[in-house]
Amino acid sequence: KLKLLAAGIDDIAIYIPKLFVDARDFAKARGMDPDKLQRGLGVSKMAIVDTNQDPACMAANACLRIMERNKIAPKDVGRLYVATESSLDESKAMNSYVIGMLEQVYGNDSFGHCGGIECKFACVSGSYALYDNTNWIRAGEAEGKSAIVVVSDIAKYDLGSSGEYTQGAGAVAMLLNDNPRLMTFDPKVTSTSIKNEYDFYRPFGKETPIVNGQYSNLLYMIQVKKALMAYKDKALSTGIIKLKEGETILDYIDFVNMHLPYSNMGKKALTYLLRHEWRSLPRWKGIIEKMGMQEPVPKDPRGTIESILADEEFMQKDHEFTKRFTMTDEFQEAYDSKLSSSLIASSMVGNLYTASLYMGFRSCMEFEFQKGVDLEGKRFGFGSYGSGSSAMVFSGVIMPAYKEIVKNMNLEAEIGDRRKVSLEEYEQIHESKLSPTQNILEGKKEFVLVGVGSSPELRGQRK
Ligand code: HMG
Repeated sequence: KLKLLAAGIDDIAIYIPKLFVDARDFAKARGMDPDKLQRGLGVSKMAIVDTNQDPACMAANACLRIMERNKIAPKDVGRLYVATESSLDESKAMNSYVIGMLEQVYGNDSFGHCGGIECKFACVSGSYALYDNTNWIRAGEAEGKSAIVVVSDIAKYDLGSSGEYTQGAGAVAMLLNDNPRLMTFDPKVTSTSIKNEYDFYRPFGKETPIVNGQYSNLLYMIQVKKALMAYKDKALSTGIIKLKEGETILDYIDFVNMHLPYSNMGKKALTYLLRHEWRSLPRWKGIIEKMGMQEPVPKDPRGTIESILADEEFMQKDHEFTKRFTMTDEFQEAYDSKLSSSLIASSMVGNLYTASLYMGFRSCMEFEFQKGVDLEGKRFGFGSYGSGSSAMVFSGVIMPAYKEIVKNMNLEAEIGDRRKVSLEEYEQIHESKLSPTQNILEGKKEFVLVGVGSSPELRGQRK
């Protein structure tokens, strides 16, 4: 019988471009109330790429950071996977660009033995890449080598659209092995949901997505809930979680990390999942009494997402109910202890698509550690969502050696000095009015784009 190895995340490195748009400046320029962005969505800064940066350069910078910091040589890496929805080519995978850049540092063909593919399923693809590589390690196929999974994206929406204030850019590289210092994933509980949907999609050749915003918010929560229900069945049948009377699965998830298209989506999702989980428990009666309002039900509870969104009376009541629920002590306690630290980075950088969930994971570890919380043995639950649409729910437990990594985490320092761009500069970059050589910042010993083409001198270079 095959004996499964432990597998999980050993270290995590980020790369965030150093230009950002300030939410207040943005709101002023678009004639919006800044509170809608800052309080309503939780957006305070949106990272944007310079003219000479693309998703492959960001991915290569994050990979190099994780390799240098851990003194990992290419011979120690058996797989290098990239998950992105900002693909550069219909057939040539982003890994090959990344490896091309890393070989400028490590030597020609130094990754020759390595394998990997580019994965796509909107924002959830990083989680599928992580899961597949975790299983490669669990099965013993890695033979002691590590895997690197890098998630890298530029979240870009049309100027003037409602998606424009949920933009961002960045990459996260994760080092996986069979003796991880940060987190070991729980085996046999990862659960998924999938359905053909058009909440957010980017047809071939189009630079920005077509988005059905409110539909995507609700679909995200429905899909994650479905995956959570499947996770619950597996967690109970494998025995990693044992529920007593009146308890819910979320009582045993110490930290909840959600996909964060904007910071407050995490809060929306937690609210939705807690309502779903608590509804059948004795504690719900007390909460409802304190709120002084019954939970509203749509006219057609089995209706489509469109019919629920079109049911104005229900939507209004539900909005009021959600507001009252989020003000209860019970919700606040869950929010403060399980979720809030994971949202901090998101409000500083915006949506990183595939990388958002993992930026949130890192944010949670750093800020909980700073609060003096001992994370050892704590279970993190992940709610990953990708439009189109699929969700994945999985969990992992923090390892004793985590302190070695987390004590050195400093988000501000790792992002580095940032430069606020004017709205004029932002729009010029957004509309590709500047060439790669008209960069705003000079690269500081990092991979940048020197041009687009297949000749060697045009490939991403370290400058
Ligand atoms: P919107 O429709 O303009 O915003 O855009 P809204 O009217 O829903 O307002 C947002 C919040 O601000 C609301 O709070 C308002 O009440 C509040 P909520 O009711 O949600 O708690 N608000 C204010 N608060 C304080 N002061 C004020 C004020 N005014 C309003 N003055 C939307 C929001 C997210 C729809 C839009 O930005 C969008 O379309 N974004 C892109 C799509 C997206 O991010 N969808 C999220 C779920 S799908 C997903 O996560 C996948 C994705 O990452 C892609 C992938 O998988 O690849 C996008």
